[in-house]
Amino acid sequence: MNWYERAVLPQILDTAMNQSPFTEIRETMVSQAHGRILEIGMGSGLNGPHYSQDVQHFVALEPFEKLRSMTASRAQSRSLEL
Ligand SMILES: C[S@@+](CC[C@H](N)C(=O)[O-])C[C@H]1O[C@@H](n2cnc3c(N)ncnc32)[C@H](O)[C@@H]1O
Repeated sequence: MNWYERAVLPQILDTAMNQSPFTEIRETMVSQAHGRILEIGMGSGLNGPHYSQDVQHFVALEPFEKLRSMTASRAQSRSLEL
């Protein structure tokens, strides 16, 4: 993984995915998920706050370490267990 992929691309992805049209979709779609969840391409964890208490088991895949660490920070601030 080169410098651009390590340092720049994850920030761009986080900013792009944090725009209001996506937030509105998360509010309506992600909140309906329940049971066992596999999120392929978790990004920076922006879906996290929208999952309901009905999620019993959660597994996520994300190739970018920087995005995984952003997810961990967000989860920590909400006391979620990853
Ligand atoms: C459009 S972003 C969506 C991120 C997140 N789900 C969200 O809603 O904010 C797609 C994500 O898929 C990840 N991705 C790309 N190729 C992947 C692969 N082969 N397996 C798992 N995730 C992958 C990217 O790194 C990126 O974080």
